[in-house]
Amino acid sequence: MTKDLLKGLNEHLKLEFRASHEYLAMSIWLSEHDLPGFATWMRKQSSDELMHAQRIIDHLVERDQKVALPAVSAPPMSWKSIGEWTLLAFTIGSPRRPWKWRAGTLWGRRPGSRCITCWAGR
Ligand SMILES: [Fe+2]
Repeated sequence: MTKDLLKGLNEHLKLEFRASHEYLAMSIWLSEHDLPGFATWMRKQSSDELMHAQRIIDHLVERDQKVALPAVSAPPMSWKSIGEWTLLAFTIGSPRRPWKWRAGTLWGRRPGSRCITCWAGR
């Protein structure tokens, strides 16, 4: 494996963990606002992102590469309304989404970057 690929995969781990945190934060907020169906859905999305991270980790370990687990900062934990949350949640990863609304920008993710494993197989 090239150094660039190893670096890229390890950097991608951070995106997976961040996405998982974002979705988990949304799930918590939705539960607090008595929206259990949405909350369950977002909890599932959070779990899916962790699974994506685990796939990368498994691949690196199988290829005898060094895994670098990233630190993940706290995600946004509240939204003004269910409308604001909906606009954000249902456009994550959309290339049509204005960059200021991309969830990653709330974390400092580079505008336009996206989680490649999030969309694989969908
Ligand atoms: Fe993902």
